[in-house]
Amino acid sequence: IIFTKEHLAETDSTNTYLQQLDADRHLPEGYIVYTDAQRAGRGQRGNSWESQPGKNLTFSLLLRPEHIPANQQFLLSQAVSLAVTDVLNRYASGFSIKWPNDIYWEDKKIAGILIENVLSGSTFARSIVGIGLNINQERFISDAPNPVSLFQITGHIHDIEAVLDQFAEAFRTRYLQTFTTSAQNLREEYLTTLYRNDGLYPYCSEGETFYALIAGVEPDGHLILTTESGQERRFAFKEVSFL
Ligand code: BTN
Repeated sequence: IIFTKEHLAETDSTNTYLQQLDADRHLPEGYIVYTDAQRAGRGQRGNSWESQPGKNLTFSLLLRPEHIPANQQFLLSQAVSLAVTDVLNRYASGFSIKWPNDIYWEDKKIAGILIENVLSGSTFARSIVGIGLNINQERFISDAPNPVSLFQITGHIHDIEAVLDQFAEAFRTRYLQTFTTSAQNLREEYLTTLYRNDGLYPYCSEGETFYALIAGVEPDGHLILTTESGQERRFAFKEVSFL
């Protein structure tokens, strides 16, 4: 994969911009758009993504993962989230991946990932990987639940573009793993990096609260929990929340 970077002073959303640019003129895989400020940054579940202008890394990466069958699409998400934790581990310890793909430091969220796929039959035609990584923001005023930045963790200001370059290199290695038998290692490493994979924690699904431990994650991304009473339960994204 060859990375090409385009920098924008501001844009609505790098995911939206990259989608439109690729529709206008077919771009090569590895095209990256990053910006200092998003006017309408988008998050998962229709949420907005807030980031103080100039302080954090907000970017989108174009991929054409035609080798990944649609029913194994979660593999890409695993490669992306592991690449983010690979980079963060260079700066501090205590990072994990909160299923499906939030990046946490202790009990706080440091990065969010929004992957938007276009399928063609049973394979991926195109995937836009959007990442917001809090780097130098000193205070969070929004009502977003427990955000944290690399500055708050390390006490230092960091070079935002350098973090982007480190991500690209880390992702190159992780993406390669999706092409080979290392895909299984990737799935296993994802599990060992998961937030709260070390015991019983409370979850909520359809108003019901229960204690469970994480038993695994299926290739399509479903979370498998084993409840206190030994029952195995399977959840799609949005069907269960961590308490
Ligand atoms: C989430 O945790 O809800 C996902 C947040 C994803 C935010 C990034 S910032 C760059 C890219 N452009 C967007 O509009 N969203 C993603």
